[in-house]
Amino acid sequence: MGGWPFVESAPTGASVAVLPDPASLALAAATVIVGEARRAVKDSRRFSMALAGGSTPKPIYKLLAEPPFAGLMPWLETQVFWGDERCVEPADPRSNERMAREALIDHVSIPAGQVHPMRCSGMAAETAAGEYERLLRRFFAEEHPAGALPSGPDLVLLGMGDNGHTASLFPGSDALDERERWVVAALEDPDTAEATSGTGERLWRVTLTASFINRAALALFVVSGASKAAAVKGVLEGEGDARELPARAIRPAAGRVLWMLDEEAASELYPGAGKDSARHASSCGAMPADPLAIESFDDLPDCELGPSR
Ligand code: 6PG
Repeated sequence: MGGWPFVESAPTGASVAVLPDPASLALAAATVIVGEARRAVKDSRRFSMALAGGSTPKPIYKLLAEPPFAGLMPWLETQVFWGDERCVEPADPRSNERMAREALIDHVSIPAGQVHPMRCSGMAAETAAGEYERLLRRFFAEEHPAGALPSGPDLVLLGMGDNGHTASLFPGSDALDERERWVVAALEDPDTAEATSGTGERLWRVTLTASFINRAALALFVVSGASKAAAVKGVLEGEGDARELPARAIRPAAGRVLWMLDEEAASELYPGAGKDSARHASSCGAMPADPLAIESFDDLPDCELGPSR
């Protein structure tokens, strides 16, 4: 697979990369995550990332759990959080924690104390949100200080629903206007409920707020499939506001936002988006012909992803 350019998406300033298909999208996203993790550890001796739920991230997590990526990730310096959780038992098939543990966490050497699930089953979602916020405030500072702690995660991985929701920030949700809190409770909107459970049962969830996600050094969207194309166009090229398309609320103040799409998800974007557009905000070099022949980090393309914070 040749290299892929991240190109500036004019209206929002986000960087967009379009990959041919879901498999190359997962490979490219895993490459970016490993690169960001190793860069963060080199710069600050730690790496913090918040995981996304849903189905799109699963192949990425599986790649990170296997050679060569598993051996390239700095697990001993990594802190794992979640971007959102459905308020079900951790063993429930709908649990984001369960999906990430089965696809990734249970297969890598990350110390158990560095994995921070967002538990909210059997308690009021608001209570769980408050507990998770207190946890985050032990790792991240209120303001970006000259001091020891960063003000946000190095990387927040995000998916997006057909209706433009991200994490558990749903259209019309008051959580989108939250400026102080880092974690809130959210009730699924009917469309998401239908998509998640198939029964229309609207689950309570706990989610990072856009305000906290925007403290991240990198917000990385990974979106696949034709069903997302209209929302992708609306978020990256439209004029609507975040209450209509919550993913529009994700614009890290001092960080970067990258959108990694497969061609189906990008199919309604302006012609040439993510392909050979003239404005390459940043780019990654060519992936090795056989990714599984990657033996060291030096074999991965050097992704210059634009200025870090
Ligand atoms: C969740 C996710 C949610 C997800 C989108 C896309 O808990 O479901 O946090 O925001 O990223 O719904 O889901 P898919 O990747 O399954 O399309």
